[in-house]
Amino acid sequence: MATDHSKFQRIVILDYGSQYTQLIARRIREQQVFSEIVRFDTTAAKLRENLPQGIILSGGPNSVFEEGAPGIDPEIFSLGVPVLGICYGMQLMSQTLGGKVEPGESREYGKTEMETVPDNELFAGLPERFVVWMSHGDRVSRIPDGFRTSATSANCPYAAIRDEARRFYAFQFHPEVVHTQHGTQIIGNFLFKVCGCKADWKLSTWIDDTVERLREQVGGEEVVLGLSGGVDSSVVAVLLHRAIGPSLHCIFVDNGLLRANEAEQVEDMFKAKLGLDLHVARAAQRFYSALKGLEDPEAKRKAIGREFINVFAEEARKFRNCKFLGQGTIYPDVIESSHALKGPSQTIKSHHNVGGLPPDLKFELVEPLRDLFKDEVRAVGRVLGMDPELLERQPFPGPGLGVRVLGEVTEEKVKLLQQADLRVQQEVRKLPNYKSLWQTFAVLLPVRSVGVMGDQRTYEYTCAVRSVDSVDAMTADWSRIPYDTLATISSRIINEVRGINRVVYDISSKPPATIEWE
Ligand code: XMP
Repeated sequence: MATDHSKFQRIVILDYGSQYTQLIARRIREQQVFSEIVRFDTTAAKLRENLPQGIILSGGPNSVFEEGAPGIDPEIFSLGVPVLGICYGMQLMSQTLGGKVEPGESREYGKTEMETVPDNELFAGLPERFVVWMSHGDRVSRIPDGFRTSATSANCPYAAIRDEARRFYAFQFHPEVVHTQHGTQIIGNFLFKVCGCKADWKLSTWIDDTVERLREQVGGEEVVLGLSGGVDSSVVAVLLHRAIGPSLHCIFVDNGLLRANEAEQVEDMFKAKLGLDLHVARAAQRFYSALKGLEDPEAKRKAIGREFINVFAEEARKFRNCKFLGQGTIYPDVIESSHALKGPSQTIKSHHNVGGLPPDLKFELVEPLRDLFKDEVRAVGRVLGMDPELLERQPFPGPGLGVRVLGEVTEEKVKLLQQADLRVQQEVRKLPNYKSLWQTFAVLLPVRSVGVMGDQRTYEYTCAVRSVDSVDAMTADWSRIPYDTLATISSRIINEVRGINRVVYDISSKPPATIEWE
């Protein structure tokens, strides 16, 4: 189920594979205009079915000179809709409309000062000179007929160009990144002054509309939903519950690899407080058996994934008359799986999510969040009155503590790690900047070392504490947790958790390390 686009005005972004494409979409939505990312080869005919208010051509890693470089249906320039080309999008637009692009001798990368010409809709209200972020190799050397220069920089005579009659605009710089001054206002000028958008993308309207359409989609049928306790599936649960009440059946798999008290907290929140029909599959022993003897991280991940499907399928079979399966798919998942611009990237770690149910379980999917970014999902949760603590939760991997007990997983080791991790959580939550930490957790190492406790020699496990700062988990740096907090964590774990006599702090960044240890 996707958002009903006819309810909102929208901007369409043709995706040429830039790492910033999603950022463009978010900058637009932040200004309360709905935006949608589509493949670069979307045709004019397709767009004509439901004309957007404006079109943006994103940047991308290719050069227009490369064989097989992604192109554009030239008819798009005849739709009568404003078009903004950014970086690669500018080069493609210039080339398609009869201008000239030259291969750059060197790459221009980083901040540069740009000077704008007066009377320019997109730079209205801005100073004459300001700093923008460039990242390009090729550049436009002759602009197409009808175009004029809007801004120049030392290295780039055509930093921005425009054809006001046809409402075509192009930038060599990236207005969507934070290093570009006034970027939000520039995008806002495109939305409101050029495209004439209304700021009508309001999450409260989206919620009312989605609840209504969920009722229509589901009819009088029943829905089964895998609830993990994470943000996305929790918001889907509350949204579906608002739409269809007792026709929603949630399954929570207690795999024995959760954080301390987590299963109880989920049960308390969703069953007792929110009144959802929650079925807890207590399957810890099945997961421990599946993990017995396994040391290889990939083998462990696969075993946990397999067992999860088995348990979930068994539970789901109890709801024979359920026609639908709810899922917490969000927009970045949709974009990543459908925009096959980038080559297949190497699997570093196989990720585990619900999927691959056995063929006898044929459900229709209900995915009400598939158009939302993570920050929008959290905002929806807030409007729905959900507990802010749940909505701000740090990410937790599907295989849970299974990949944080290094080497073979046993129930005893999981219990030990839960106790160590609980102390880490309790202490970091006291930090004033707790919310800025991406993930903070304990890892149990398969290493024992000698220590001394009272007069006794000890020979016990080592626990690593990991905390990282990140914006998207693709890269991460270790958090500069204050020494005093680390000291408290260390002494609490060593004094209070029998079985651990040494605590170390992980100071590796990603890359080359990863966030999780396995
Ligand atoms: P790595 O360790 O690859 O982790 O740097 C990147 C982010 O992904 C999370 N992670 C997972 N999330 N299923 C998930 O849903 C998984 O199997 C999984 N493995 C890692 C990890 O916690 C970090 O936020």
